Amino acid sequence: MPDAREMGPGGPPSELVSEVVSQQAERHPGVGAPRAFFAPGRVNLMGAHLDYNGGAVLPAAIDRGTVVAVSPRSDGRLRFTSSLEGGEHEFDLARLPSERTGTWADYPLGIARAMLSYVGAGPEGASFHFGGNLPIGAGLSSSASICVGTSRSLASVWGLDLEAVDHVHIALAAEREFVGVQCGIMDPYAVGLARAGHLLWLECRDVRFEHVPFDSERLSILVADTGVRRELAASEFNRRVEECRQAFLILRREEPEASCLAQVSMDALGACAEELGPVLSRRAAHVIAEVGRTSLAREGLREGRPEVLGEQMMDAHASLRGLYEVSCPELDCLVEAAGRCEEVFGGRLTGAGFGGACVFLIERGSEEVVRARLEESFREAFDRDPQVAVFQAAGGPSELAL
Ligand code: GLA
Repeated sequence: MPDAREMGPGGPPSELVSEVVSQQAERHPGVGAPRAFFAPGRVNLMGAHLDYNGGAVLPAAIDRGTVVAVSPRSDGRLRFTSSLEGGEHEFDLARLPSERTGTWADYPLGIARAMLSYVGAGPEGASFHFGGNLPIGAGLSSSASICVGTSRSLASVWGLDLEAVDHVHIALAAEREFVGVQCGIMDPYAVGLARAGHLLWLECRDVRFEHVPFDSERLSILVADTGVRRELAASEFNRRVEECRQAFLILRREEPEASCLAQVSMDALGACAEELGPVLSRRAAHVIAEVGRTSLAREGLREGRPEVLGEQMMDAHASLRGLYEVSCPELDCLVEAAGRCEEVFGGRLTGAGFGGACVFLIERGSEEVVRARLEESFREAFDRDPQVAVFQAAGGPSELAL
């Protein structure tokens, strides 16, 4: 991750935009003049592992993400290149593959397919070049960022007047139906519907949302990436999804009116403890308590009491470690170190866990102090530095002035 001090106030740095646009011209000669778009990544502050259980989540978009330069083509072909990944991927718009290619191009290809089925016909081809400044695999949703960014830019080339939420639906369809990841709904909503200076309160059961003001004068969001990337992360994530599904099937017999695990009560959990067994009981206990913590966190923010949100984040981390079992020593070390800093309101692992990054809510102005403390503790334990960056709650996808 680039250094916190290198970041601009919202949006991608101009050097990054210039680099993506000039690479696009170089690697796609002879196409029309490019337009450029930015789609942010996201960090989730509360509501860990609640989206696929029907609970509410509280993410923010961040001012790191994907830059897309795109030009129309008259030959009916789609062509994708990237500064971050290798290869040139070219497809005939009239005969897009129905099977994944197994490369990064599956994301933009999935978007093109989803958009075609959404709007009927694709008028013309397009040449895309992608770049960006989101670390991959840190839990900051690089996949939703590239999907929403591609959707937004392809719609512009095709002259389609789509709403922000249409891009979210297209991104979800691409990831679920083409790339083949059964992701929850949080990531594309967090990226696609973000509003600068706000967190998104998203109720995943019935997809209701509102924007909750984030006091950027007083608060900063600090993300510390452990650098740990686990091969097991995807299969463990799917296992948690399955465990929650099984727990709900049992608990629903006790509370038939509940339509998802997030709606089940602690009483039902107590009544079914034996049938659930220890593992499913722990998973369900995390989910049910996290619902309450996330509501308290929103209240705290609304009342201008960030310490309430911070406290819920610390409790959430303890639960993710002990009950949901998705933490690791590197993440725990960062949260413990942050717990000793008075400038930190609270923090927890973010994203799916099993490595990746922690998110902290801190007093604005204390970024360098907190960074130094986290680095010191982490270095002592693991003999290397975490990658620390500071964010403000950023806006959603946008076209960039060239
Ligand atoms: C991953 C998934 C999200 C969500 C989080 C856990 O980041 O992509 O949909 O389930 O894990 O909160």
